[in-house]
Amino acid sequence: MSMQSVASHVPVPPNPGALRHIPGDEGWPFIGNTLNVLADPKGWIEKAAEKYGPVYRTNMFGETSITMLGPEANELVLFDQQRLFSSTHGWGPILGLLFPRGLMLLDFEEHRLHRRALSVAFKSGPMKSYLADLDRGIAVRVKQWKAQPGGMLVYPAMKQLTLDLAATSFLGAEIGPEVDEITRAFVDMVAAAVAPIRRPLPFTQMGRGVAGRKRIVAYFSEQIPIRRARGGGEDLFSQLCQATHEDGALLSTQDIIDHMSFLMMAAHDTLTSSLTSFVGELAAHPEWQERLREEVKGLGIEANDPSSIDNLEKMPLSEMAFKEALRLKPPVPSMPRRAVRDYSFRGYDIPAGTLVGVNPLYTHHMPEIWPDPDKFDPMRFSDEELRNRHRFAWVPFGGGAHMCLGLHFAYMQAKCFARHFLQNLSVSLEPGYQPDWQMWPIPKPKDGLKVVLKPV
Ligand code: HEM
Repeated sequence: MSMQSVASHVPVPPNPGALRHIPGDEGWPFIGNTLNVLADPKGWIEKAAEKYGPVYRTNMFGETSITMLGPEANELVLFDQQRLFSSTHGWGPILGLLFPRGLMLLDFEEHRLHRRALSVAFKSGPMKSYLADLDRGIAVRVKQWKAQPGGMLVYPAMKQLTLDLAATSFLGAEIGPEVDEITRAFVDMVAAAVAPIRRPLPFTQMGRGVAGRKRIVAYFSEQIPIRRARGGGEDLFSQLCQATHEDGALLSTQDIIDHMSFLMMAAHDTLTSSLTSFVGELAAHPEWQERLREEVKGLGIEANDPSSIDNLEKMPLSEMAFKEALRLKPPVPSMPRRAVRDYSFRGYDIPAGTLVGVNPLYTHHMPEIWPDPDKFDPMRFSDEELRNRHRFAWVPFGGGAHMCLGLHFAYMQAKCFARHFLQNLSVSLEPGYQPDWQMWPIPKPKDGLKVVLKPV
């Protein structure tokens, strides 16, 4: 069978009896272990690992699946040298209704071709122009925060900032009066991606999400010919309107709609979550906050100067601190795949069709890899430490063919944010306050994360 036909063939879940030889339990009828996992994902997985070992059987959202833990499992599934695992049929049940044919929902050869076409939008020229947009937006917002010092909830503020930045860097500054409506439609779509009720019934998140997708599809369909006729345009959408396949053909209207919707979703919650946890760690660790502020001072740029790629390259400590925040709270805490062929791992035979999950959240806290795993220590990302670690021990951006395409965009936004934030503000927590985080499906502080801001 060719790779393409493996990808298009829908693997049928095996009979649950075919997985009984794998240790584990399926929990309650119908709901399985879903509620336990939702209540405390990290604690629950750690307990299951202790009881059953690094490969175990569980049941989530009505289907028996196999969780495989640790760097070797991450490497097997994500690097996927033998093309055993479908991302389409792993993510499909979660994202397929709202983000059909997004890059992460394509497999194998078809995925490779689309990834190649999209990668033009992430080359250094376009990245420079996104940086200019991000830089302007961040500078304006940080100035507003500076003008109203005192208490702030980080999560909602960061969500708003990330949305505003996406509107300009993804859609272009000239998007005009439609911006609020498009943003609202998009927010509805993203919220619905993780809604508990999966059918688009009236008055449900999924209902609003599907309506949001209709609005977004209409907007992109109307804009694609306009942007193509006009040519140029530095934003991501305009880049995709000019992007071509290997044979020189432009992407189809439907392809651009699907890729744009997916890209905006992939960037939005992940950046909101990671920038929130980054600020939370800086607030909790004043000594690190000061070290990073010194790094920013060392750039020798005035508060009103724009940030350049060259500036950001001179912020290695800030990058290490951001990586450590991503270790502690990976925005994508688990990743699903579906086996397209039978395979074996650690002596267990696992049949084609099995839903398989790997878990960055667990791997990032394994004490044998990360001593004192709950401690915030950016030095874990020094060159020397990196050399001595399994390359799949830290996987917030995944790995292999589906590794995050926006990884450099994420670093750029994080460092640009760190530069303006630290140059203008200091951040702290009220004494005794310990923010409580929900870790799944996307890490988020339950109370928004209260901090105190002061101008510096
Ligand atoms: C800190 C921020 C981010 C994190 C932690 C993150 C994480 C991830 C992860 C884990 C995957 C792979 C999932 C899998 O293999 O199952 C992924 C894929 C992807 N991400 Fe990100 N992401 C971030 C930001 C972004 C941004 C800013 C963009 C776009 C500008 C983006 C675009 C994508 C795309 C297009 C894919 C699919 C790649 C493919 O399937 O080939 N991400 N991301």
